Amino acid sequence: MKKIRWGVLSTAKIAREKFIPAVQKSQFGDVVAIASRSMEKAENTASELGIGRAYGSYEELLDDPEIDAVYNPLPNDMHVPWTIRSMDLGKHVLCEKPIALNARQAEQLLQHAKTKPDILVMEAFMYRFHPQWQMVRSLVDSGSIGHINQVNSLFTYFKDDPSNIRTDPEKGGGGLMDIGCYCVSIARWLFNHEPLRAFGSLRNHPQWHVDILANAILDFGEGRFSSFTCGTQSFPDQYVEIIGNHGRIRVNRPVNVPSDMNCTIDVENENGTEIIEVVASDHYTLQADYFSRSILDQTEVPTPLEDAYNNMKVIEAIFKSAESLRMENIPSGSSH
Ligand SMILES: NC(=O)c1ccc[n+]([C@@H]2O[C@H](COP(=O)([O-])OP(=O)(O)OC[C@H]3O[C@@H](n4cnc5c(N)ncnc54)[C@H](OP(=O)(O)O)[C@@H]3O)[C@@H](O)[C@H]2O)c1
Repeated sequence: MKKIRWGVLSTAKIAREKFIPAVQKSQFGDVVAIASRSMEKAENTASELGIGRAYGSYEELLDDPEIDAVYNPLPNDMHVPWTIRSMDLGKHVLCEKPIALNARQAEQLLQHAKTKPDILVMEAFMYRFHPQWQMVRSLVDSGSIGHINQVNSLFTYFKDDPSNIRTDPEKGGGGLMDIGCYCVSIARWLFNHEPLRAFGSLRNHPQWHVDILANAILDFGEGRFSSFTCGTQSFPDQYVEIIGNHGRIRVNRPVNVPSDMNCTIDVENENGTEIIEVVASDHYTLQADYFSRSILDQTEVPTPLEDAYNNMKVIEAIFKSAESLRMENIPSGSSH
């Protein structure tokens, strides 16, 4: 069976700990090369993880004609520039979230992708591939809780390492970019709609000048709202609560679910309360396989780039609102 040959841009933690092992157990992909700014790091990681080729620069990996697809887990400010470089050298790209630093940069990527219809690009929102979210989708679509009016979510962790890329505003640091992007993405996906307006309130770190606590309200129109809190110096927790006019669904571990963890979803409606257990699954493997299959079958990726651009527009409106202290409109369509 033909498999997609993956190259990895950098020795990022997420690549070493999640993406590479996930592809190594996938059906439709192999990791054949890894690059780092340091040849030594590339060689060490390649030997630890059993990867055939190591490169001492990202450029050399992109020049390798025996690579079909690139995984881009670089710092957020390098997502768009390196995704575009990869595309220009004929590589398909799975790029980490958030896709860009801002909506303008996301739109630049979207426009570039339109000039290269044979190259596939997708933002790596792996959570959508977890079977628990297929379960939630079918519960919502079957009307088990009626019409959904509200999506509330929380995503927090505690990190205090000043050398982490998330502490640098120039690299697109801060909690809203890092984990708030999931809360925005989940609400948009569940409502199957774009929010019209956003309100945001942020607390910044006094030295790092990136947000460590963010609260936001998204107005989806017709009385539908989402509110969320995300924080990077808070007690670690996460949940998503979906409130309908006839019931409520609570997703207890919505985002970074360990691959060996069974998940539970609580469903409460007129019939009582049910706890649904979803068996453990590796959403990184599933994501890689869906992406590889799209390349092999020459079909569209499961999550189009328009989705990534729309997510970025909402994040940008939250930042803007935190400055203006007003609800900010979210422009529909693109600026072109
Ligand atoms: N989907 C998920 O579950 C998930 C989870 C965590 C993170 N992420 C995303 O993945 C990306 C990486 O996160 P991470 O936590 O893995 O970060 P990380 O460990 O700091 O990795 C970033 C890598 O980028 C490379 N790099 C190039 N220029 C750099 C610079 N100026 N400063 C620092 N590093 C530079 C480095 O690799 P070399 O030195 O080898 O070149 C570094 O290892 C982020 O976009 C993040 O949002 C996604």
